[in-house]
Amino acid sequence: MKVFLIAGARPNFMKIAPIWKRLEKRGRAFETKIIHTGQHYDYEMSKIFFENLDLPEPHVYFGVGGGSHAEQTARIILEFEKLLGRETPDLVMVVGDVNSTLACALAAAKFRCAHRQSPRPLIAHVEAGLRSRDFLMPEEINRKLTDHLSDLLFTTCADAAVNLKKEGIGPEKVFFVGNVMIDALVQYRDKAKNSKVLARLGLAQNRGRSNYAVLTLHRPENVENALNLDQILSAVREISSQVPVVFPVHPRTRQKIETSKLPPVSREAESSSLILSEPLGYLDFLKLMMEARFVLTDSGGIQEETTVLGVPCLTLRETTERPITVKEGTNIICGVNQEKILKEARAILAGRAKRGKIPKYWDGRAAERIVQVLLSSTRKFML
Ligand code: UD1
Repeated sequence: MKVFLIAGARPNFMKIAPIWKRLEKRGRAFETKIIHTGQHYDYEMSKIFFENLDLPEPHVYFGVGGGSHAEQTARIILEFEKLLGRETPDLVMVVGDVNSTLACALAAAKFRCAHRQSPRPLIAHVEAGLRSRDFLMPEEINRKLTDHLSDLLFTTCADAAVNLKKEGIGPEKVFFVGNVMIDALVQYRDKAKNSKVLARLGLAQNRGRSNYAVLTLHRPENVENALNLDQILSAVREISSQVPVVFPVHPRTRQKIETSKLPPVSREAESSSLILSEPLGYLDFLKLMMEARFVLTDSGGIQEETTVLGVPCLTLRETTERPITVKEGTNIICGVNQEKILKEARAILAGRAKRGKIPKYWDGRAAERIVQVLLSSTRKFML
């Protein structure tokens, strides 16, 4: 079976790595090519992940870069359609919810219509069925449309299947396999322990215990809305007067902080303990999370990683598409309300952190289950 494994943006790389390795393990049963759209292109946002996760160079690289959603999505569709015309795979596998995910699923589905070539290529979506129910989130559009274009839907949790059923997606297409991003975490946790990132950032360990929090921020509704950004940064400044806060800054966020009328955070960093850094690679960031007192974030994946690591997570958004991290894990939804963020941060620092458990099938074996499904069920689809 010829497989195109699609990745484009930072949160895709740790999801394709375990799948790539499992498919390679099967030897001649699969011929897999990694297609990188180039949605993310900086060394720290892309190549370092290939190095850290022992991935080969992508077989095909589109280099589409940034731009508006329409421009970025359209450029990926055009490039992927050309590629499908040159060599049509049996399966296009997309992961997550970024623009590259939807663009490649859509190009593959339209390619089938244009060439009257059903079902080839089959479309598989890994991390299907997550819903925030917030249609102002580009990822919610990407997720929902990708699910409806897909033939095989691999889910991370039981509530995803419920969401898909409500939308009329047949249960015969849905497979509860677990969380491939946690596969990567399980595989690289030991290696990450050797990372020197704490020393590099000047985070001295006290009797083997670190004492700092981590912040990540990149969502447009937080970063591009001056009011929200101000609320968040005010809370963070207050927190950083009690405990150092490490803030690896996403390229978009850096631009916004630099161009906003807010006092520059970099100046603040010198006088208090807000420590800014470039975006970090996979191993360094994993180490940073593992040792943190707590994490403040507006990312999706980090809500899941902190749950598995048992590290408290304060989510700086009004909704989550990953409610299992709240129900079973260490996640608390704070929105961008300064008082709420401070209240929860104080509770953690006072030793009253939320505890959680690890959700079912977040055990490092999701990619293995996906490959099992491909071996057993695609024959049925392809006949
Ligand atoms: C994308 C995903 C988001 C994911 C995030 C992780 C979509 C709709 N969004 O958002 O779901 O959580 O990735 O980071 O697909 N930039 C660089 N260098 C890079 C990458 C981006 O400078 O390597 C800058 C560019 O100015 C770019 C901007 O960041 O225009 C935003 O990048 P983009 O890919 O459009 O979206 P993200 O905000 O990164």
